[in-house]
Amino acid sequence: MKGPWICYCFALFLILNCYSTTAQPPFDYPTANLSTTWVNTESLPHSVNFTDGSRVRAILLRGSFGPKFACGFYCNGTCTSYLFVVFIVQTNSASGIVQPASGFPQVVWSANRDYPVSYGAVLNLTATGEMVLQDVDGSKVWSTNTAEKSVAGLNMTDDGNLVLVDISGSVVWQSFDHPTDCLVPGQRLFQGQQLIPNKGLFAYVGSNPPQVYYTKAVSGNNTNIGRRYARFLNDSLSLFILSIEPSDPDEVITIPPASSSQYMKLMPDGHLKVFEWQSSWLEVADLLDSYLGECSYPMACGRNGVCSDNQQCSCPITSSRINYFTAVNDRQPSLGCSEITPLTCNATKDQVFITLENVTYFNIIADMERVDIETCKQVCVNNCSCKAAIFQYGSDSSSGDCYLPFELFTMMNVDPDVIHRNASAFIKVQQEAPYHYARFTPTLIFILVSFLFLLGVIGCLTYIICKRRWATHMEEESIGEVPGMPNRFSYEELKTATENFNKKLGEGGFGAVF
Ligand SMILES: *[C@@H]1O[C@H](CO)[C@@H](O)[C@H](O)[C@H]1NC(C)=O
Ligand SMILES: *[C@@H]1O[C@H](CO)[C@@H](O)[C@H](O)[C@H]1NC(C)=O
Ligand SMILES: *[C@@H]1O[C@H](CO)[C@@H](O)[C@H](O)[C@H]1NC(C)=O
Ligand SMILES: *[C@@H]1O[C@H](CO)[C@@H](O)[C@H](O)[C@H]1NC(C)=O
Ligand SMILES: *[C@@H]1O[C@H](CO)[C@@H](O)[C@H](O)[C@H]1NC(C)=O
Ligand SMILES: *[C@@H]1O[C@H](CO)[C@@H](O)[C@H](O)[C@H]1NC(C)=O
Ligand SMILES: *[C@@H]1O[C@H](CO)[C@@H](O)[C@H](O)[C@H]1NC(C)=O
Ligand SMILES: *[C@@H]1O[C@H](CO)[C@@H](O)[C@H](O)[C@H]1NC(C)=O
Ligand SMILES: *[C@@H]1O[C@H](CO)[C@@H](O)[C@H](O)[C@H]1NC(C)=O
Ligand SMILES: *[C@@H]1O[C@H](CO)[C@@H](O)[C@H](O)[C@H]1NC(C)=O
Ligand SMILES: *[C@@H]1O[C@H](CO)[C@@H](O)[C@H](O)[C@H]1NC(C)=O
Repeated sequence: MKGPWICYCFALFLILNCYSTTAQPPFDYPTANLSTTWVNTESLPHSVNFTDGSRVRAILLRGSFGPKFACGFYCNGTCTSYLFVVFIVQTNSASGIVQPASGFPQVVWSANRDYPVSYGAVLNLTATGEMVLQDVDGSKVWSTNTAEKSVAGLNMTDDGNLVLVDISGSVVWQSFDHPTDCLVPGQRLFQGQQLIPNKGLFAYVGSNPPQVYYTKAVSGNNTNIGRRYARFLNDSLSLFILSIEPSDPDEVITIPPASSSQYMKLMPDGHLKVFEWQSSWLEVADLLDSYLGECSYPMACGRNGVCSDNQQCSCPITSSRINYFTAVNDRQPSLGCSEITPLTCNATKDQVFITLENVTYFNIIADMERVDIETCKQVCVNNCSCKAAIFQYGSDSSSGDCYLPFELFTMMNVDPDVIHRNASAFIKVQQEAPYHYARFTPTLIFILVSFLFLLGVIGCLTYIICKRRWATHMEEESIGEVPGMPNRFSYEELKTATENFNKKLGEGGFGAVF
């Protein structure tokens, strides 16, 4: 009597299977209640290692089958430190994270970008409704500061927003209000600090003060009394600054329509890129490229670098061939240049300008307009924070625009016959006595030391031979000292020079404001 039993089991299996495909039991884990604690260890069940060296430990994940949003701990490389992030991963129909060899996690938001935590760090959704990230040593790294705001739970939404909601379902806190370097479709980038009196979209390098390298201004009558924002839509980045949705945006920057999951990211070099999932993550648009040349990005050739066509990077050189700058890395000129002798406010009397002709600056907003070249230079001389005076003649050729950066990023070579105006950069450099030695490369110092050493040896030998010869013929005479081993000073200078070479390029920040 085995036959019917097998049939029965088979039927049951079919029914179960049928149920699972039609009723879609929830395999995902998109929400959490108060008083929940997650520890960044193997205790988190949804952990995946990717072949590019990155790793995620998912806490919440919404949806199944295809690119989906999740939040959790993320690391890459040595994985000695982790971030709490929102990311996109590939999922199967059971909401499992799959494709570890191509579906690398794309981080679109992070809570603690500048304060990574260790293995064993704790994320609490406390009983009082606050999300708190604690490092393994107990130090509080990040918090939503939402205690006493009647939070009822945490929700990872379909469109990549991590939200704390109250009993009625209204949003108390959301990650969309705290954008980092990415936007996901639907997300709005609200008006930031009012840095510039114009209205529009700006991209700037986050130095102090910020330097603007891109602007899309809008004009017209203002009908928008609410908040101003740019919104990432299916085929555009749309500016709603003077107008309000659902009416037409003031300006659009077009983006290829999404055939799958997309996100937008402001890269560390200032490019604004859109990525799309097409069996791997591909770059589908570089939004500012239609407006900016490669040399117009502030980090095209790093700090203090000079950018020529086709992104040839070099360090500032003077006609007298005295070097005040050296490449951070000789093999990668695009990493920029460092000062051989740093500027010191103590010794402004030893500061001079080196002049670079036919060179200008990306900064769109001049610090002084319609001034003459001497005024421009003098203001820089008088302010110790000023690193360079960059001057570009106006159309009348008697006055022009003056840029006085406090941090000097990439400068660009221009052809005055093409832009129809002359431009020059006057870069402030420190001139002090020891710099002559500091300029010596380690190789030169090595040759010098070897030479002096050789001279010493030859001297000694000559002395000994002569002494022997003389000793045979006459009474001893005293002879002056021979040159000994040089030269502690050279060694110190070698150290200084090496330290200068090793000086690393600091990271520039970028942002967008209206
Ligand atoms: C949250 O609490 C509600 C009500 O007690 C419960 O139905 C739900 O399953 C809980 N959710 C999670 C993710 O634990
Ligand atoms: C990921 O890699 C780490 C270190 O190699 C290992 O300890 C861990 O078990 C791996 N996790 C998974 C889910 O494979
Ligand atoms: C992880 O780091 C590697 C090497 O730096 C890089 O190629 C890769 O893109 C990173 N992965 C992610 C998901 O960012
Ligand atoms: C987080 O949760 C753990 C375990 O429940 C607890 O020991 C710790 O005190 C909590 N930290 C905070 C800041 O609430
Ligand atoms: C969570 O977000 C989804 C949208 O992705 C929404 O449908 C759902 O109602 C939200 N849940 C709560 C508890 O707010
Ligand atoms: C702005 O408003 C004024 C007065 O209402 C009107 O004359 C003008 O045409 C409007 N300009 C634009 C660009 O809509
Ligand atoms: C975006 O729009 C195109 C057509 O304009 C459409 O085919 C596509 O499905 C849309 N993508 C998404 C993710 O909605
Ligand atoms: C500036 O001068 C003071 C006093 O002479 C000295 O202590 C300090 O180290 C100097 N600072 C620099 C950056 O050289
Ligand atoms: C600057 O450009 C002008 C005109 O093309 C040229 O005559 C001059 O030699 C250039 N100066 C330098 C230093 O390249
Ligand atoms: C340099 O200029 C900045 C900006 O104008 C100003 O805040 C600062 O006080 C000036 N420093 C000096 C030493 O004049
Ligand atoms: C640029 O400067 C040179 C020399 O100073 C001058 O001959 C030339 O007319 C200037 N060109 C422009 C476009 O101002």
